[in-house]
Amino acid sequence: MIILGIETSCDETAAAVVENGQKILSNVVASSAEIHAKTGGIIPENAARKQIKSIIPVLHKSLNKAKIKYQALDAIAVTIGPGLIGSLLVGVETAKTLSYLWEKPIVPVNHLVGHLYANWLESKPPKFPAIGMVVSGGHTDIVLMKGHGKLEYLGGTRDDAAGEAFDKIARLLDIPYPGGPQLSKIADEYRKQNPNVKLNMFPRPMLDSKDFDMSFSGLKTAVLNKTKKKLDKERFAAEAQEAIVEVLISKIMSVVNKYRPASILLAGGVSANNFLRECLADAFENPRLRSLHIPDIHLCTDNAAYIASAAYYNYKPIAWQNIISHPGLKITD
Ligand code: KG4
Ligand code: ZN
Repeated sequence: MIILGIETSCDETAAAVVENGQKILSNVVASSAEIHAKTGGIIPENAARKQIKSIIPVLHKSLNKAKIKYQALDAIAVTIGPGLIGSLLVGVETAKTLSYLWEKPIVPVNHLVGHLYANWLESKPPKFPAIGMVVSGGHTDIVLMKGHGKLEYLGGTRDDAAGEAFDKIARLLDIPYPGGPQLSKIADEYRKQNPNVKLNMFPRPMLDSKDFDMSFSGLKTAVLNKTKKKLDKERFAAEAQEAIVEVLISKIMSVVNKYRPASILLAGGVSANNFLRECLADAFENPRLRSLHIPDIHLCTDNAAYIASAAYYNYKPIAWQNIISHPGLKITD
């Protein structure tokens, strides 16, 4: 089955062609990061306007790279949320139009569920039951996956997402957009140069709580208060990264200890973070005991390949004749 995926939930315009949920035939992403760099963060209106410009060229490129004609497609998968409404509309309305024109069914995909399927692309499929941790710019959630389409929410952040914490702290430290990856580079360099410095300046909230919830908003305030003391930016970056990663690792460890899953899945933009990847690999060191899945770096941040993969494994198509008023194509928050 060949599925065209479309993803436009935020600042990336993405289209991909994926065979049988695993084999990537093309994966094209156009980012509007250079526009957001000028404003120091994403202004939704700007992101939506760039989506409008990029969507058709990205779709063309994706089909060309995959060397297939639209006739060969079995379905169109599209992100229906959560995300920025203006951005989502571009992808969903384009998918509907193509579905109607090409007479192909649409498969709506939740963006966060989609992120988890980066672990099914170009690699050995994870076994169920799995524990998945999605750490993105807008969400930080832990779920139990008993099978495809059988997800149970176990916990998550009560306020800011981990990615948001990275981005906002980067802003406080005058680190240019995109903050998360830049802060992470500075932090890794500091750790390399100062291996003996104990990085415990900032709080690790909710580590002792009995549930699997987290909180990252206080970390911003802690950084803001400390930055008044004018310590060096590199040290702050390393301290903040350490605090975020320690909380994430500690929570996933306690979930794994309780549920004893067959696999552990990391997903979402923050899973591109080197330090998080290293710490997680250390934490689940014995590969015979558990199976840890971390997507390739290029599949961690937003792309349409995982949307197509999620659609394959959760195949609930909406026929092209029904797309105009089908409730399954309502954009979700
Ligand atoms: O999943 P994603 O691409 O978009 C959303 O669905 O939100 O995640 C974007 C988030 C941003 O907050 C970004 O700063 C963060 O992922 N991110 C990172 C790294 N790469 C991306 N955070 C820390 N270290 C990184 N290397
Ligand atoms: Zn995302």
